[in-house]
Amino acid sequence: MRYVSLFSGGGGLDLGFERAGWEPVVCVDNDPISCETLSFNRPNWNVVCDDIRNFDATPYAGVDAVVGGPPCQGFSTAGKGNPKDPRNFLWKEYMRVVSEVRPRAVVIENVSALTHRRNGDHLSGIMDALEEQGYTFAYGVLNAADYGVPQGRRRLIVIGIRDAEASLPNPTTATSQPTVGEAIGDLAERAYDPAINHVANRHATHVAERWDKLAPGEVDPNYRRSRLDASKPSMTIRAGGGYGPNGDHLGGFHPPIHPTLPRQLTVREAARIQTFPDEWILRGPKTIQGRQIGNAVPVNLAAAIGTHLADLLGKSVRLEEEAA
Ligand SMILES: C[S@@+](CC[C@H](N)C(=O)[O-])C[C@H]1O[C@@H](n2cnc3c(N)ncnc32)[C@H](O)[C@@H]1O
Repeated sequence: MRYVSLFSGGGGLDLGFERAGWEPVVCVDNDPISCETLSFNRPNWNVVCDDIRNFDATPYAGVDAVVGGPPCQGFSTAGKGNPKDPRNFLWKEYMRVVSEVRPRAVVIENVSALTHRRNGDHLSGIMDALEEQGYTFAYGVLNAADYGVPQGRRRLIVIGIRDAEASLPNPTTATSQPTVGEAIGDLAERAYDPAINHVANRHATHVAERWDKLAPGEVDPNYRRSRLDASKPSMTIRAGGGYGPNGDHLGGFHPPIHPTLPRQLTVREAARIQTFPDEWILRGPKTIQGRQIGNAVPVNLAAAIGTHLADLLGKSVRLEEEAA
């Protein structure tokens, strides 16, 4: 099963789809470092490092799926974010690609804030466009912790399909949600190693002293992140540092505080919490490595979506057989 990957970033969605048996015919992203990450880890993938607005998808007409998460920086969270941010409209480019490829299925991932009333025009625009192109769709906010991910991370997933009934994947977490301790416990003892993105930041002594006193789950009011609780899933790993006074995302990678050590998580620890395998290396400077991780769809959630999509398409093959 082959698909077009849009806004591929550091490859979380693609790794999960690969695990579910899918193969990308092309991965498109305009960030050179994300493209470098994809090509470094999968030299055989066809990575197009360009703005989606320049991307001609007609050579890929007829592949099974178009998959991707348009950027979400401008979408409102808790009344912040800028509704006029031009990045909010990149879903139109996504739908233009869908019209060129005419795949049997589409998957769109985004922040749950897209379901807020303030952003409702975009969500209904996506749905109208899917309907106009002949897709039925299912959508909902899924929590990654229900899909084998040691992290509470709620994301909107839209699945559209042309010749079968659309639905969302059922949770895959069998009993209790995976924990931070299970995900990163061994890394606390391990020597720092830039080759696997496991390098701690140096913190000022007074900061480390303050963090040392935090109880599990307690938020540091200055840093506005909590110390993780090893016995629970992590808070959401984010790409940036929250919102500034103008509603813009602040730069920098601000991961949560380690559950037992007085420091931030390393990029590798954050990657583990996003269920990336240690073999997947993030390229670029540390903050950009962290941004790729914070932006990613957790690999285990992506694998659950990819497996479900393959099942849906398998069913639709049977529907076609019955019709014939
Ligand atoms: C939310 S991230 C995608 C993360 C990815 N789905 C994953 O699982 O790792 C959105 C990506 O869209 C890319 N992007 C933003 N604007 C773009 C544009 N105009 N054309 C192509 N890519 C763009 C960004 O560089 C970023 O990597």
